[in-house]
Amino acid sequence: NSLKNDIQENAHPNGTRQHLPHAIIIGVRKGGTRALLEMLSLHPDVAVADSEVHFFDWEDQYRKGLQWYVNKMPFSNPHQLTVEKTPAYFTSPKVPERVFNMNESIRLLLILRDPIERVLSDYTQVFYNHKQKNKVYPPVEELLLKNGEINVNYKAINRSLYHFFMQSWLQFFPLNRIHIVDGDRLISDPFPEMEKVERFLKLSPQINASNFYFNKTKGFYCLRDGSRDRCLHESKGRAHPPVNSYLLDKLHDYFHEPNKKFFELVGRTFDWH
Ligand code: A3P
Repeated sequence: NSLKNDIQENAHPNGTRQHLPHAIIIGVRKGGTRALLEMLSLHPDVAVADSEVHFFDWEDQYRKGLQWYVNKMPFSNPHQLTVEKTPAYFTSPKVPERVFNMNESIRLLLILRDPIERVLSDYTQVFYNHKQKNKVYPPVEELLLKNGEINVNYKAINRSLYHFFMQSWLQFFPLNRIHIVDGDRLISDPFPEMEKVERFLKLSPQINASNFYFNKTKGFYCLRDGSRDRCLHESKGRAHPPVNSYLLDKLHDYFHEPNKKFFELVGRTFDWH
C-alpha cells in the first residue's frame, strides 16, 4: 500500500474522480471477458475502463507506475466501483504479485470456459488477426497436433491449463477473493451469472433479467439498457473451425487431468467435456 501514497486521484470539475480499480477482470483470454465487462457496466454503481490497460503485464507500462495506471481509469462518482479488464493478466507470471503489491484486498474476477472451446476461440482470433493483415494462418489440425499428439508448445493449448496459472494467483490471494464466472453459462443464460457477480462485489442487485434478450441473428444474448439495445462487436461470437473426431478425442484426453486438478484447486466443478 505504500506504493499508493503518492497517487493523485485526478478530480474533474463535475465531482467525479479517477480511482485505482476496486476489481479487475484478470482473464482468461477468450473466456468472455468483454461480455462480462459490458454486462457489469449495466450496473449504475460500476465504472469500467473501456480498453484493455495492460498495466501489470507489459513491462514498459508497469514501469510508468501507478499514477499512469490511475490516469487510464474512468472518471467515477464516489459510490461507484472502478473495474478494468485485461485478459492477459491471468496467464502472465509476474502479475499476481504485482496486483498484490498494489492492493492485497482487491477483488478479482476470472471468467473461464471449457478449455477446448477456449483453445478453438483463441485459434479463431489469431486466424482472423492474420486474415486482416492478408496473411494465412495454418489449419487448426496443423497447429494443434504434432506427430499425431497434442502440440503442447502451441500457446493456445498452454493458456487453457487453468490449474497451472490459478496456482500462482492462489499464492497471493485467497480463493474467496477470486470469483470464477462460468463463461459457458454466461453465454447460455447470463443473468444468474451476473447476479453472482453482483453479490461477490457487494453491489446492490440492480442488473435485471430484462437487461438481456436473445438475438437469434447473432446467436447470443445482447444487452438492453433503458431503451438502448446493443450486441457485442462482431468479433465476439465467431464460428469456430470444424474439428475432426481424432483431434477432439486427443483434446479431451489431454485436458482431462488438468481440469481435474483445477476442480480440486478451486473446490468446484464445471461442465467441461
Ligand atoms: P467466440 O468468439 O469464440 O465465440 P473475450 O471477450 O474474452 O475475447 O471472449 C470472447 C468470447 O465471449 C466469444 O468467443 C463468445 O463466445 C463469448 N461471449 C460470451 N457472451 C457473449 C455475448 N453475449 N455475445 C458475444 N460473445 C459472447
